[in-house]
Amino acid sequence: MKIRVTIDSDDIAVSLKKVLIKHMLDSGVDVTDLDYAGKHPGALYPEVGYNLALKIKNKEFDRGILICGTGLGMAMIANKVETVYAGVCHDVYSAERLRKSNDAQILTMGSRVIGTELAKTIVSAWLNAEFEKGGSLPKVEQMRMLERKSFHPEK
Ligand code: RB5
Repeated sequence: MKIRVTIDSDDIAVSLKKVLIKHMLDSGVDVTDLDYAGKHPGALYPEVGYNLALKIKNKEFDRGILICGTGLGMAMIANKVETVYAGVCHDVYSAERLRKSNDAQILTMGSRVIGTELAKTIVSAWLNAEFEKGGSLPKVEQMRMLERKSFHPEK
């Protein structure tokens, strides 16, 4: 079964988002543009990122891509949503490791940091990589356990 991918950006990164959507469609990827800022003029990056991250949490999509000026704010807000993990990547190696070692569902990038060709290559590498488990599994499980402790300190 094809993985369901979604993408969104703040107003600053709309043109890179469009380039990446075309790149993914040309590669046969099932991608949905949430276009939160288009539907909510004036929307800031936190609400754009939160909207996408919630859809990952609710399993409407398997993977998400969030783009803003630096990728930093998008990663920060996406990581505020329980069970959702996001990382900023501006190189191919990190993008692969974000899946293979960290099992993150969300990739973030900065349109003011990265060129379009590298961004396309990073997206492809990230989409083609899967969680390797192995030695990374206990580390990711520990992260999930600490996350539960942080969100539910009463338990
Ligand atoms: C502009 O709002 C800028 O702060 C945003 O695009 C992003 O770089 C935040 O991390």
